Amino acid sequence: MTPKLMIPGPVSVDDDVLFEMGQQVRPHYGAEWTAVYNETRDLLKQVFKTEGDVHILSGSGSAALDAAIGSLATTGETVVVGNNGYFGERLEEICEGYGLDITRVSAPLGEPLDPESFRQAFKVDPRPALVALVYLETATAVVNPVREIAAIANELGIPIVLDAVSALGGLPLDMDEWGIDICASASQKCLGAPPGLGPIAVAARAWKIMESKADRGHGWYLNLETWRRFADEWGPWHPHPVTVATSNIYALRAGLLKLLDEGIEQRIKRYTKLALQLRKGVRALGMEPLTPDDQLAPVLTAVYAPDGVAIGELVGYLREEHNLMISGGLGGGLKDRVFRVGHMGPTVTEQDIDEVLGALRAFLELKHIPLAEPT
Ligand SMILES: Cc1ncc(COP(=O)(O)O)c(C=O)c1O
Repeated sequence: MTPKLMIPGPVSVDDDVLFEMGQQVRPHYGAEWTAVYNETRDLLKQVFKTEGDVHILSGSGSAALDAAIGSLATTGETVVVGNNGYFGERLEEICEGYGLDITRVSAPLGEPLDPESFRQAFKVDPRPALVALVYLETATAVVNPVREIAAIANELGIPIVLDAVSALGGLPLDMDEWGIDICASASQKCLGAPPGLGPIAVAARAWKIMESKADRGHGWYLNLETWRRFADEWGPWHPHPVTVATSNIYALRAGLLKLLDEGIEQRIKRYTKLALQLRKGVRALGMEPLTPDDQLAPVLTAVYAPDGVAIGELVGYLREEHNLMISGGLGGGLKDRVFRVGHMGPTVTEQDIDEVLGALRAFLELKHIPLAEPT
């Protein structure tokens, strides 16, 4: 039986989204398709909160991140990368792939990046091609202070690329007001659709930078200018360069309609309530979340396991005995110490959180691990 997904993506999806995935395949060109594609882009604009352009890459979130970095920076240039976890590391790997010289801004494991560290990095390297960072570091559930970091980058005229793969639709985000140049995400997390799409929003400033660098020459498929050219030249019937994943885009549209119908702020409130419920519940079992409550991520909670608990065994038990899927830690340092519970799916309810808590309790009892005294 398909497990209930309480992992940080992909998420279990709504019936409307499932319905779209079950329809006969639809073509990727023509007036009817173009209307659906453009509507989906418009819905995404409302979620990114941008007047910029949105493209929907067929590929995962990493494809969108790869496109963002490769389209803005030229091999040999320097970049500043925020790295406080596995997905910060991924940003560095993408930059390395393009032959960029990286100045890393890090933070102790489990802590957010410090905006002042970026200011220091920009003193050492005042004109990097871009600064890139992750909004919600999914490996640790740490939320980085994007708005503050973007303000510094804006003040200095440094383009900023944001990995909002696990944040878009689940954390507050205002791309234009915060001054983000390119924001990349993925369909399978807070947008409530299946994996397969990398929505990407591009501000006018970012296009200007691309235009000013005629010799960038980074490929074709993940070159954002290719996507813009086709949207411009083939707009009325085939507004993208390739045969895009049409079923997934119909499904994403359904997920976005649900999100906007509920309201982004309202949904974030709902997720925050789930996060607080989970935090209270794990503490009652004698465990502590990795981040304090005033820094919680509405959509994801990482929890220290009690001493002596093998994370793999815990995750396996929930999967086998309770048909619930949660995640272990990700990346060095925390891999064997924390487990992560995703509550970023639009279908997750208070009952689901109770179910996870019940299953955790059962595991601890099975292992004779003392539970916290009731307070
Ligand atoms: C913050 C973050 N960035 C990037 C990725 C990579 O996304 P994808 O697996 O869709 O390529 C993930 C996936 O979990 C993520 O959480």
